[in-house]
Amino acid sequence: MSTTTVAPLAVHVRAVTKTFGQGEAAVPALKGVDFNARQGELLMIVGPSGCGKTTLLSVIAGTLNFDGGEIEVFGSSLHAMKPRHVTEFRKRNVGFIFQQFNLIPTLTCIENVSVPLLINGASRRVAEQKAEAMLDQMGLPGRGHDRPANLSGGQQQRVAIARALVHEPRLIICDEPTSALDKDTGSHIMDLLRDVARHPDRSVIVVTHDNRIFKYADRLTEMEDGRVQRVHDQAGNPDFSE
Ligand SMILES: Nc1ncnc2c1ncn2[C@@H]1O[C@H](COP(=O)(O)OP(=O)(O)O)[C@@H](O)[C@H]1O
Ligand SMILES: [Mg+2]
Repeated sequence: MSTTTVAPLAVHVRAVTKTFGQGEAAVPALKGVDFNARQGELLMIVGPSGCGKTTLLSVIAGTLNFDGGEIEVFGSSLHAMKPRHVTEFRKRNVGFIFQQFNLIPTLTCIENVSVPLLINGASRRVAEQKAEAMLDQMGLPGRGHDRPANLSGGQQQRVAIARALVHEPRLIICDEPTSALDKDTGSHIMDLLRDVARHPDRSVIVVTHDNRIFKYADRLTEMEDGRVQRVHDQAGNPDFSE
């Protein structure tokens, strides 16, 4: 009998399927995915391009509908929720760092980072103070009044990360967060995400190709062709606990 205590689940995915398009144009992106992320862990998802990583993140985040199976996030069943409630749940509980940053070009950096606070009901003054402090923490002091186009790719990525963390969501979902960053900035961002994941009631899921950052993962999930193939820890030991 194992004496290890396994932390409660943050995300529980069972037999999830998702097909894009119909008929001859149908592309099955998820073919029955089983997947768990625990509270207090940083979990990485790796796998070749096109294997379904972004699709999996999107259905967990509630930004994309799925066809079959079950998804629970912190015990709430997305498959059983009305779309309006999924949106509410996501706004409060999920921070998403997209591959393509998705910053709003007409807003300043402070305004971009304020958005999640404003949609959760904060006043503009409080939102902008918190946004500015978050940008400082990301190593971008004094850039708050710039628009994204005046920043480098790496700086824009740090703004996007600030926006995902500012409202302290319990689940942080990151699609290739270090792809536009140099090594030192990438390490700084991963240290921050590592700290977030140490909170016992939060969880960080990172999709990456970047083998320089694998060392930050508590567990790695390997995907291939729309399915999870293997879950293992840093030492390569398979994870049988689920
Ligand atoms: N909006 C979409 N419409 C049609 N096919 C899509 C769409 N998004 C993804 N796909 C397809 O689904 C599969 C999985 O894509 P994706 O989840 O983006 O993979 P990954 O992130 O691992 O590179 C790919 O074959 C991709 O072409
Ligand atoms: Mg992708």
